[in-house]
Amino acid sequence: MKVYFTEQTNFYGNSKPSELLKEYGSPLYVYNESILRQRCREMAGLVSYPNYKSNYSIKANSNMELLKIVREEGLHADAMSPGEIHLLLAAGFRPDEILFVANNVSAEEMQYAIDKGVLVSCDSLSQLRLYGRLDPGGRVAVRFNPGVGAGHHAKVITGGKETKFGINPESIDEVKATLKEYRLRLAGINQHIGSLFMDPSSYLQAARTLLNIAANFEDIEFIDMGGGFGIPYRKQEGQQRLDLVEAGRGLSQLMEDWTANYGKRVRLKIEPGRYIVAECGVLLGTVHAVKQNSGKTFIGTDIGLNVLLRPAMYDSHHDIEFYRNDAILKSDKVHTATVVGNICESGDILAKSRELPEAAEGDIIGIMDAGAYGYSMSSNYNNRLRPAEVLIDLDGNPRLIRRRDTLEDLMRGFL
Ligand code: LLP
Repeated sequence: MKVYFTEQTNFYGNSKPSELLKEYGSPLYVYNESILRQRCREMAGLVSYPNYKSNYSIKANSNMELLKIVREEGLHADAMSPGEIHLLLAAGFRPDEILFVANNVSAEEMQYAIDKGVLVSCDSLSQLRLYGRLDPGGRVAVRFNPGVGAGHHAKVITGGKETKFGINPESIDEVKATLKEYRLRLAGINQHIGSLFMDPSSYLQAARTLLNIAANFEDIEFIDMGGGFGIPYRKQEGQQRLDLVEAGRGLSQLMEDWTANYGKRVRLKIEPGRYIVAECGVLLGTVHAVKQNSGKTFIGTDIGLNVLLRPAMYDSHHDIEFYRNDAILKSDKVHTATVVGNICESGDILAKSRELPEAAEGDIIGIMDAGAYGYSMSSNYNNRLRPAEVLIDLDGNPRLIRRRDTLEDLMRGFL
């Protein structure tokens, strides 16, 4: 028996997919508040180590209303750019609740964070020296590369030998010398080994390595193990969830053991993005054409790679549901079809040669688990309008939380 996620979770609350598209246009990102809050709580309660905080990595989804909910749930946040810092401050996060995980930033960008009172993590010696010049005697963090990587695709692995991220542990002495030269206080160290692990072992291995690195520095305040917590994208095939109990226990144990040697409790942080928001989002669209080309069936939709880039960029799998008269198509009549968008690129593919119910023109398509790296990676390519975003609140009612682009928006930057 296939699992139909939106049915199982009463995802659309009091609305029907067709009503949502009629009101807010197609395609449309729909988020479910109850699922979002649940995922926040799972991360907030992940470990029993007493001095613990989960950050939310807002690159996964930075809709202002979602940020406010995440903040209400007590999470802190990490930012990758001045723009993300700006949004976080607007959402009500305090500067000391934000970590700027900087990568190859300009002096102006670093100065922006310093002026706002946001702690900066430097991921190269040259950026650490830049920090020292801008804020001698200041407080700073350093990102290390533990030499371990993990992730669902080579493009999202950020630890290990062949990535641009982090400082190698061999450079610890140079880090120390640079801190000394500029009289910098090392507040904490962080890492992020990659995105989407379903088995905690590589994460725990990297955590152990980072703790060994941390032991070289006196009197740090925090250790941030990074994000990467995976979600089951293949729910229809019965894929199991990540074992959070195992991950949480492992982390707590590592921290307790380490603390006994270090002699002081530091704050343990993690920074999940996907885990918080992926499953609270479904991307709805419309089937506009079904055709055969050289014996292959193509289902043509209005969800182009400008709206959801993940399948084109990483061959990512997202479960698909079709709705006809608002009922999920569960017909036994399946065929092999390739689902595509409306963008002028042959790689504009949502699902390649997948067994799917026989969808027809006018049916609605739902792309599951689209809340993370969906809207946040969307664009106006082909001068297409980015969709609206709607939140199904705890009472099951929809609320517009970002309007759809207009044609005027496409003209905004022209002088
Ligand atoms: N911290 C840092 C420093 C990061 O670079 C990232 C993600 C995270 C935390 C959060 O990782 P998460 O928990 O979401 O895996 N666009 C790709 C994922 C790229 C992730 C980039 N960095 C995707 O759609 O799969």
